[in-house]
Amino acid sequence: MALQSDVDDAEPLDGDFARAVLTGLGEDAKNIPCQFLYDARGSELFEEITRLEEYYPTRTEIALLEACGSEIAALAGPGRAVVEFGSGSSRKTHILLDCLDDPAAYIPIDISHDALGEAAARLKQSYPGLAVHPLHADFNQGLELPARYGACPKLGFFPGSTIGNFTLDAAAEFLADAGDVLGANSDFLVGADLRKDLDILLPAYDDRQGVTSAFILNLIHRINRELGGDLDIGGFKHQAVYNDRLGRIEIYIISLVDQVVEIMGRRFALAGGERIHIENSHKYTVAQFQAMARDAGWASEHVWTDRRDYFSLHYLRRNGG
Ligand SMILES: C[S@@+](CC[C@H](N)C(=O)[O-])C[C@H]1O[C@@H](n2cnc3c(N)ncnc32)[C@H](O)[C@@H]1O
Repeated sequence: MALQSDVDDAEPLDGDFARAVLTGLGEDAKNIPCQFLYDARGSELFEEITRLEEYYPTRTEIALLEACGSEIAALAGPGRAVVEFGSGSSRKTHILLDCLDDPAAYIPIDISHDALGEAAARLKQSYPGLAVHPLHADFNQGLELPARYGACPKLGFFPGSTIGNFTLDAAAEFLADAGDVLGANSDFLVGADLRKDLDILLPAYDDRQGVTSAFILNLIHRINRELGGDLDIGGFKHQAVYNDRLGRIEIYIISLVDQVVEIMGRRFALAGGERIHIENSHKYTVAQFQAMARDAGWASEHVWTDRRDYFSLHYLRRNGG
């Protein structure tokens, strides 16, 4: 059993998966929202993805954080409580905490209970003097931070290009809502993936070893395990395509044959070739991201990009302090 930390369960999330699957598979354009990829196994597989040769975002963002740490620290100043949205393994958090001046607390937020508990336990061991307060929550559903950190200025941290999973409208809404959650005098450090050639982009979502495919198809196992489904894993494959008009990677699970599946007593017909939409990953330009942040109430203080312009790291400051 891996080391686990006490986790604050902000709201009951258990029923959400069943509701999302039954609703999404009943729609004409079938879909299951991407946050449900992250059960314990999904979080492990995502970590494997981040170490793949094809998956440039993680190592590019880590290199950027390492290179610009002192500039981030100078912008943030002392005594910030770091609030991380979708913290996963918190691997990048160590780099941030190491460069910040006297951080007041670390509040990781994630939907994946086990990944959150393990990461928080590791952080507590590495930083024994730091208050670590893990929050098991869906960051789309009315977050509330623990009241005891109310007086600390916050530094929001949203790495991994998770913001790319939102549609453009939802991303703007998320940034505005995050401003309300983080409160007065807050800053926000956000990692956003940039547009690039398809020969770099597509393999990052369809690697040679099949780890991304296993990550996406783990949803089929999760439906069988948690919702008593009877889906045959051999009847599905994963597909990643680039939607040029919308500037995003789209990920689907495709039914390979005509089939009827049963989940929680409900039957769903899938035609051979029919797609279930799982995830988007929007690719931004720097100017496009800055304009969106500005409209959502954040001024761009600084942006760092790597030499090849693969990835961008945005330091935002909430308008009006
Ligand atoms: C793309 S991974 C990024 C992980 C890590 N921040 C990184 O930079 O490598 C997305 C993370 O966000 C979490 N997540 C996804 N949707 C979420 C939601 N709606 N609420 C809370 N956490 C969510 C997942 O469990 C996962 O840990």
